[in-house]
Amino acid sequence: MDSGLPLHIGIIMDGNGRWARQRSQIRTQGHLEGLKAAKRIVKAASDMGIKYLTLYAFSTENWKRAADEVGFIMGLIKQYLRNELDFYRENRIRIRHTGDAAGLPPDVQAELTSAAADTKDFEGMQVILAINYGGRNEIVRAVRKLAAGKSGADLSAISEQDITACLDNPDVPDPDLIIRSAGEYRTSNFLLWEGAYAELHVSTKLWPDWTGDDLTAALRDFQNRDRRFGGVKARDSI
Ligand code: FPP
Repeated sequence: MDSGLPLHIGIIMDGNGRWARQRSQIRTQGHLEGLKAAKRIVKAASDMGIKYLTLYAFSTENWKRAADEVGFIMGLIKQYLRNELDFYRENRIRIRHTGDAAGLPPDVQAELTSAAADTKDFEGMQVILAINYGGRNEIVRAVRKLAAGKSGADLSAISEQDITACLDNPDVPDPDLIIRSAGEYRTSNFLLWEGAYAELHVSTKLWPDWTGDDLTAALRDFQNRDRRFGGVKARDSI
């Protein structure tokens, strides 16, 4: 039965820096509060029965930030992966990664691999952490994977399904809903291929202020959308 819930939600967690600035605090304080918000939303989404949740934690463009800030975010991610293991176990949450793992510091890579291995058999919600993630980068890596070992004739027959099969997590369904906090109307290189038909929900609330109620409001908004995937509704199809 269709629950009306999105199967897969992606979230662009934006506004940590602004949250800190509004309080005359340093940017890293915003990320610390942003991590607390991420924990609240993971718990709320799991309790609501969401099956897949992708969180945009660090983009391929975020390396341009000051080294101190980048180091702080990487440390937060490591800490999150290590400290939340009991929570994943209790809630049967599976942790996965999307993004270019090879470009991550070895200790973060190791922590991701270990969290993914420890939780791989959990049948509850899947949390996919987008870290060193860029939609264009994911497509380039997929095409390279696909082209390796193919002849020119094979390459001319490449289909959408072939590219999908070479993405980071081909078994994960496309996101139905992409949420962005902090009021900006753009997708910032997030799930470019997978999000082709995702509904967008933009909230003006800064990410560190997000609670389960904001997720509920986003889901209500989603349930009122008329999704046609480029087609028309049956009653309008004369
Ligand atoms: C965007 O806010 C936020 C980030 C680039 C980092 C997000 C990271 C976390 C919330 C911590 C890690 C989370 C998990 C789940 C491991 P911004 O700094 O761009 O804010 P601004 O646009 O207001 O400056």
